[in-house]
Amino acid sequence: MTSKLLCAAFVLAALPLSITFSLQPDQQKVLLVSFDGFRWDYLYRVPTPHFHHVMKHGVRVKQVTNIFITKTYPNHYTLVTGLFAENHGVVANDMFDPMLNKSFSLDNMNIYDSEFWEEATPIWITNQRAGHASGAAMWPGTDVKIHESFPAHYMPYNASVSFEERVAKIIEWFTSKEPINLGLLYWEDPDDMGHHLGPDSPLMGPVISDIDNKLGYLMQMLKKANLWDTLNLIITSDHGMTQCSEERVIELDQYLDRDLYLLIDGSPVAAILPKEGKFDEVYEALAHAHPNLTVYKKEEIPERWHYKYNNRVQPIIAVADEGWYILQNKSEGLMLGNHGYDNALAEMHPIFLAHGPAFRKNFTKEAMSSTDLYPLLCHLLSIPAMPHNGSLRRVQDLLSSTTPRRMAHTQSPPPHRGHGKPGEREQESNAYFIGVTLGSIIVIVFFIIFFKHLILSQIPALPSMQGEIAQPLLQA
Ligand SMILES: *[C@@H]1O[C@H](CO)[C@@H](O)[C@H](O)[C@H]1NC(C)=O
Ligand SMILES: *[C@@H]1O[C@H](CO)[C@@H](O)[C@H](O)[C@H]1NC(C)=O
Ligand SMILES: *[C@@H]1O[C@H](CO)[C@@H](O)[C@H](O)[C@H]1NC(C)=O
Ligand SMILES: *[C@@H]1O[C@H](CO)[C@@H](O)[C@H](O)[C@H]1NC(C)=O
Ligand SMILES: *[C@@H]1O[C@H](CO)[C@@H](O)[C@H](O)[C@H]1NC(C)=O
Ligand SMILES: *[C@@H]1O[C@H](CO)[C@@H](O)[C@H](O)[C@H]1NC(C)=O
Ligand SMILES: [Zn+2]
Repeated sequence: MTSKLLCAAFVLAALPLSITFSLQPDQQKVLLVSFDGFRWDYLYRVPTPHFHHVMKHGVRVKQVTNIFITKTYPNHYTLVTGLFAENHGVVANDMFDPMLNKSFSLDNMNIYDSEFWEEATPIWITNQRAGHASGAAMWPGTDVKIHESFPAHYMPYNASVSFEERVAKIIEWFTSKEPINLGLLYWEDPDDMGHHLGPDSPLMGPVISDIDNKLGYLMQMLKKANLWDTLNLIITSDHGMTQCSEERVIELDQYLDRDLYLLIDGSPVAAILPKEGKFDEVYEALAHAHPNLTVYKKEEIPERWHYKYNNRVQPIIAVADEGWYILQNKSEGLMLGNHGYDNALAEMHPIFLAHGPAFRKNFTKEAMSSTDLYPLLCHLLSIPAMPHNGSLRRVQDLLSSTTPRRMAHTQSPPPHRGHGKPGEREQESNAYFIGVTLGSIIVIVFFIIFFKHLILSQIPALPSMQGEIAQPLLQA
C-alpha cells in the first residue's frame, strides 16, 4: 500500500521534470516560407482556402512594414537578419560598392561574391554556430558562402526546380537522422506573374489560386511526414506589387546627358553615380525635373528609410511616386507591375501568417515590422540573436500563452525601438535551468525516501517488490 502511494508520488514528482524536458527549447522546429511578391491583400482576391485554414488555426498580421527599398534581395536579407538595408549591406538588387570597386547584379554570377553579404550574419549561420542544422531550398543568399559557411543542406539556385522538389528536400532534411531545426523555402511567384501582368489584371486570380494550391501541397506533405502538429510554419514574403503603365514613365534622357553619370539601379529608385566633378550638374538637372520624381542627395535621404549610412547607397537617389516608372529611354520597355517604392505604401506590404505549437490560434494582429521576425525566429529556435533592428516584445502577442517561455512576459519593456536584447535570452535560460534543477531535486528526494522505506521495512520481500514498483508506473 505504502509503496503504491510512493509510486504515485514518484509519478507526480517526475511530471514537472518531464514537462521541462518535453518543452526543451531544442525541440522547436521552424519552417520559414517566402512566396515572392505576395501582396498582403491578395488573400482576398480569390478564394484561398489553405491560407485561410492557416489563419484560422494560427496567426495573421495585416500590415507588415517591410524595409526600403522594397526589393527582393534587401528584404529577404532583412527577414533573416532583422537589419535595415543600411545595416545588412544588401541595399538593392543591383549595387556598386566604391570601396570594393565591385558590382552586384542579379543578371550576373557576382551575387555569389561573399563580400556583399558579410556586413551581416544570417540566421542559418547563427543557428549552426549554436549547434543546430539549417536547410534551405532556394532562399536568396543561402547558396552563397557567407563568413566561410553554407547551410548544412541547400540547393544551388535554379528557377526551373519545381515547388514539389523543393518541398521534398525540406521534408527530407526535417526527418533525416540528424534533422534540421530551421528550414527556409522560397518560391518565385506571384512576383514573376505580378511583374508580367500587373497586379490589377484579372489574370492574377488564377496565379494566386495556384499559390494557394502550392500551400495546400506543402501542408499535405508536412502532415504525411508527421510534422504538421510539431513544426512552426511561418509564411511571408519580401514585398507587394503595384500597377504600372506606359502613361506613367519618367524618361531620364529628357533631363540628363548619359555621359554625366552611371545608372547603378533603375526603377523605381534610381541609384545615380555622377562622373567625377559632375555632382552639382547632375543634381540640378534632375532635382525639379518631374513632379513624380523626388531626388535626394545621399545625406538628405529621410531617416525613416534607414537607407543612408552605407557605401553602397549612391551619392544621388531619385525615387518615383507609386506606379511611376523610371527609364533612361522609353524604348527600353517596362513591366506592368513593379515594387521597390516607399515602404510606407500599403501596396508594398507582404503577407504574414504563422501556424504551429508556438503560435496562438485564430489571432489577428494589426501591424508589425519585418525586422521583428528575426528576434522571433531566434526566440523560437532558442539561439542568441545578433544585433538587429527588431523587437521580440512587439510580436510576443503572436505566441501562445502555453509556450514554454512564459518568463519572457516578465521582462521590463525597453523604452524605445532597440537592438538585440540579450536580457530576454538570459531570462529564458534561467527559467529552464531552475525548472530542471527543481525537477531533479524532487526526484532525488523521492529516491532517498523510497530507499529508506525499502531498507527499513522490506528487506526480505525485495524480489516481490520489484513487480509492484513496475506496475503502477506502467498504468500511470
Ligand atoms: C575598378 O575596377 C575596374 C575594373 O573593373 C578597373 O578598371 C579600375 O581601374 C578599378 N578602379 C580602381 C580605383 O581600382
Ligand atoms: C535546373 O533544374 C532543371 C529541372 O530540374 C534541370 O533540368 C537543369 O539541368 C537544372 N540546371 C542546372 C544548371 O542545374
Ligand atoms: C504625380 O504628380 C502629380 C502632380 O504633382 C500629383 O498630383 C500626383 O498625385 C502624383 N502621383 C502620385 C502617384 O503620387
Ligand atoms: C531612345 O529611343 C529611340 C527609339 O528607339 C531612339 O530613336 C533614340 O535615339 C533613343 N535615345 C537615346 C538617347 O538613346
Ligand atoms: C475566430 O475569431 C473570430 C473573431 O475574432 C471569430 O468571429 C470566429 O468565430 C473565430 N473562429 C474560430 C474557429 O474560433
Ligand atoms: C540597427 O541595428 C544596428 C545593429 O545593432 C545598429 O548599429 C543601428 O544603429 C540600428 N539602427 C537603428 C536606426 O536603430
Ligand atoms: Zn521579390
